Amino acid sequence: MNWQIPLSDLRLTQEDRDAVMAALESNWLTMGERTQNFERLFAEALDRADPPFCFAVGNCTLALHMALVALGVGPGDEVIVPSLTFVATANAALYCGATVVLADVTSPNDWTLSIADVTAKITPRTKAIIPVHYAGQPCDMVALLALAKSNGIAIVEDNAHGPLADGWIDANHTARALGTIGEIGCFSFFSNKNMTTGEGGMVVTRNKALAEKLRLLRAHGMTTLTMDRHKGHAFSYDVVELGFNYRIDEMRAAMGITQLARLPANNGKRAEVVGWYNPALAAVPGIVVPFAHRPAQGRQALHIMPVLLPAGVAREAVQIALRDAGIQTSIHYRPIHTFSYHSQSEMVRRDGLSVTDSLTPRILTLPLYPSMTRADVQLVADALQRALAGA
Ligand SMILES: Cc1ncc(COP(=O)(O)O)c(C=O)c1O
Repeated sequence: MNWQIPLSDLRLTQEDRDAVMAALESNWLTMGERTQNFERLFAEALDRADPPFCFAVGNCTLALHMALVALGVGPGDEVIVPSLTFVATANAALYCGATVVLADVTSPNDWTLSIADVTAKITPRTKAIIPVHYAGQPCDMVALLALAKSNGIAIVEDNAHGPLADGWIDANHTARALGTIGEIGCFSFFSNKNMTTGEGGMVVTRNKALAEKLRLLRAHGMTTLTMDRHKGHAFSYDVVELGFNYRIDEMRAAMGITQLARLPANNGKRAEVVGWYNPALAAVPGIVVPFAHRPAQGRQALHIMPVLLPAGVAREAVQIALRDAGIQTSIHYRPIHTFSYHSQSEMVRRDGLSVTDSLTPRILTLPLYPSMTRADVQLVADALQRALAGA
């Protein structure tokens, strides 16, 4: 379909293409200098003063899995995740044989984890909480850090949506990059994300022991890598962990570097577009725009533009009317507890999700990408208003 206004817009540049070609022409295709540089630059972009340990991986799903493995999550443990997220957040815990405890979101205006519900769902078996910074909006990390500390629980941030956004870590509003606040942070560079490598991800920690574990888990638990042996630094290796092959390759790392260079400017443009959307949508009767009145917690990296339709509206009719006007929409997300697999799994606890359930039929995601113009935004808002009048 040839959308007039697509949901997201992938703009690759000649720099991206040149970087990938140069990686190919270097004749060194995996775990080389480009991956090392990408990790260093990403760490510095997150926190120049105190760069965390960063490991580039094949995608964010792998990052989430290895994060939980590194923390020792296994059968008998419980991991709390929001139901309103992409399915990978919960699956990471299921891969480990742990029980997933689905938690509610806060309110129609705040679709991040409900602290009250997380508090109620903590048990002696809770080993980790995975807050999702939905749409790039920070979860209440001050409250989560306090809960985690008093209960001895680890936090793994799913920051697929908010690369280079900040969140507050204390009551004084000290800002830190999302993904560097909990024990481990996970990022996605999937093709619709704020920066992309096609498939790709990053796993991040400030903890040296966890970093060592993650380094081993990414590459079969091997003590030396092909590069070490190529450079003559080592001649053999031992295997000291049950590791995986969760590596990225040099072509993607090369593209990660060029994409990362443009990320701050693109994040800025996204924030500008959301700044146009908020008043335009406030004029559409019955529409709730979550997070519209939230202060920024430092740098912003807004990923998607969710809205809540008026209760009782036939959402599909609205989506069809918008499609006919050339506007692509989506739904982020169908909650995990409604999927065939997860609604039947004994490993998924799904009680007390009333806010999520009440929002679910009303959720709609509108287009958001850095090159959107104010006129595009107005066109979407006007088309939405017309669609609602006809729905
Ligand atoms: C919130 C969230 N978590 C995890 C993922 C998984 O990311 P990936 O596709 O890189 O495995 C995604 C993305 O698609 C996501 O949106």
